Amino acid sequence: MDTESRNPSARTDSQQPQSRESGSLPAWLDEAWMYVSTKTRELAGRIGDSFPHAAPNGKYDEEPPQWWTSGFWPGLLNLVERETGEPELRRIAAACEVKLEDALRDAEQVDHDLGFLWLPTGVASYRRDGGRESRRRALLAANLLAARFNVQGHYLRAWNFEGQEMDTRGVAIIDSMMNLPLLHWASEETQDPRFRQVAMLHADMVLKHFVRHDHSVCHAVEFDPETGMKIKEHGGQGFAQGSAWARGTAWALHGFALSYGYTGKPQYLDAAERIAGFFLEQLGQQVLPVWDFRADEEHRGAWDSSAAAIAASGLLELSRHSTQSAMFHEAALSLVHGLYKQLRVADDQEGLLQKGTVHYPQRRHLNVPIIYGDYFFAEALAKLRGYPGFFEHQ
Ligand code: GLY
Repeated sequence: MDTESRNPSARTDSQQPQSRESGSLPAWLDEAWMYVSTKTRELAGRIGDSFPHAAPNGKYDEEPPQWWTSGFWPGLLNLVERETGEPELRRIAAACEVKLEDALRDAEQVDHDLGFLWLPTGVASYRRDGGRESRRRALLAANLLAARFNVQGHYLRAWNFEGQEMDTRGVAIIDSMMNLPLLHWASEETQDPRFRQVAMLHADMVLKHFVRHDHSVCHAVEFDPETGMKIKEHGGQGFAQGSAWARGTAWALHGFALSYGYTGKPQYLDAAERIAGFFLEQLGQQVLPVWDFRADEEHRGAWDSSAAAIAASGLLELSRHSTQSAMFHEAALSLVHGLYKQLRVADDQEGLLQKGTVHYPQRRHLNVPIIYGDYFFAEALAKLRGYPGFFEHQ
């Protein structure tokens, strides 16, 4: 990649490529990374420090910094900048981080997705150059996340809105597994075990109430917020109660693998392996999952490339820990290769991956590029090229 200058001087060792790969890398990896870095750089010119979410007509829309996806664009910039050292990308990511902090001022506007917001931004930035402001902001976010813990039910409250179908004071969702690394990082950073204790109690609760005997997972579980007793499972963004939402499955496999990386607790590794087995079995020889593996025939016209990208990056995390490392690594490599070959977006359209689905039950953004699909595709590529991901233990 001769257009890319390398400037490693500002980075800590943990952000340098680590030799995870044995043997030489496939040639297409460099080509795919060039695709990611070139398109991201071009997009930065238009998007700047705003927060893209989905690109339904070849152009990314914009969400406010409070929205759960707002860490992924600066995260993508940070992934590219880590390798190229481009000051403009770094400047934009830093400007996004300041806006994200502004969103922390109102605790009632903040939900549980603070890990999604702060691991690829403040924590990544702090790990790279030790900036005290980034550390302060990310610790503030970790404190707000820990404060969402319900001590009776052992769950982190997911949402704040007033729901018709559920009392959100009592609702936890599977996506939360990806937010737990922020708590683990905070404990390591402050040497205070409280954050890690909350993260582990929540993960144990997910293991008990979300992961089913057939290794599928549900999206949402509602508890009585006073007693902590389980009330019911909700279909949430999946097809129905009892179904298997593809992205939720990917969040679970990736999130349990991360929790194992931070804690070494064998139950988490076992859960990640079982859920990964379920995901790969449902996928079969395909690269692109249907949005819910158990959607009925009438509702199988939407796909979710973001689930494949999240799973690929999670399988790479799993391959760091599992005794079946080679198998999970091979599965990840083949998924990333397939995504690159089959789903990349035309040069004159925004986004990196076609065919992500945001919310099928609400028919919101079906079969379009989504910023978290783009982010995890880029993160999986970076991992395959030897760099650590921004959610993992370092
Ligand atoms: N609610 C998070 C997601 O759409 O995956």
